[in-house]
Amino acid sequence: MAVKTIEFRDNAVYLLDQTRLPRDVVVLELRRAEEVVEAITSLRIRGAPAIGVAGAYALVLASLQADASDVARFMASLWEAARSIGQARPTAVNLQWALQRLLRVSEGASTPEEARRRLLEEARKIQREDEEADRLIGVHGAPLIPQGGVVLTHCNTGALATAGQGTAFGILRTAWQQGRLRHVYATETRPVMQGSRLTAWELVQEGIPASLIVDSAAGTLMAQGKVDCVIVGADRIAANGDVANKIGTYTLAVLAREHGIPFYVAAPISSVDLSVASGEAIPIEERPAWEVTYLGGQAIAPEGIGVYNPAFDVTPHRLVTAIVTERGVVLPPFEEGLR
Ligand code: MRU
Repeated sequence: MAVKTIEFRDNAVYLLDQTRLPRDVVVLELRRAEEVVEAITSLRIRGAPAIGVAGAYALVLASLQADASDVARFMASLWEAARSIGQARPTAVNLQWALQRLLRVSEGASTPEEARRRLLEEARKIQREDEEADRLIGVHGAPLIPQGGVVLTHCNTGALATAGQGTAFGILRTAWQQGRLRHVYATETRPVMQGSRLTAWELVQEGIPASLIVDSAAGTLMAQGKVDCVIVGADRIAANGDVANKIGTYTLAVLAREHGIPFYVAAPISSVDLSVASGEAIPIEERPAWEVTYLGGQAIAPEGIGVYNPAFDVTPHRLVTAIVTERGVVLPPFEEGLR
């Protein structure tokens, strides 16, 4: 795999600035937690599992910045840092999940030094586990694609969005290596183009035959019988199987149902939030207006127009054919299977 999305070494986070892709490949060196928070908020690193890993390393940096002369004060500043890192992006549950894991391991430490060591160990473990989860998602998910199948995918769920080969994209990679995948249609994914800038970039690197489509072409493609299945990722999956994912996912699920096409969701278990009963309770991030009114630094809408820019939508579980996790393929009723 060509891309290393995020790395921690020599007390710094190194991450590929995804806002610069596909034009420039720039690796940022970040030494302060605040810088990582800025990178998450401004989508330099994005995708639910990658956000989780970045959040974990941000807390490691915060622990290095914190005053270690007093244990109680040190722990209080860790909690405060976790709170502010956790607010960087609200929908992907992986961020909260990773921070909670780190806070839990730090609690048993008797000195700040030990806490720092434990935090780094746990953050690295989260990264390793995510890499392995992706591999297994690929193994479980590839057989869902028919021999010679054509898949439509949305947003970017590849190596850029995770610590491994990707979730939905990981399935595509595995199926391609197995010789069962014929073609991929990737949506541009308005407004900030994770499909055309990032997924298309990964598809070209991998040499998978693929076509980029505008988001609104998906229905026509399905009506023309050009799509065998849709595979997308998730930012959070509720206990009943409702799926929050990039805006436009719901539209694709409705279209898939209308055309009798299977609609698969691929995500690690770290994206499953059993504390949330249904999609209604998932917080949906709203992003700045300029993401819609500007493209590549150019205004594409008049000054003064109102904008509504939700970054995610919720696909009701009844539209989901199956959910692929590292532990296997979950079929309806999802409530039972996810638990
Ligand atoms: O706003 P983004 O780019 O972070 O949104 C990403 C998605 O919606 C992905 O589909 C999801 O996080 C899964 S990534 C494996």
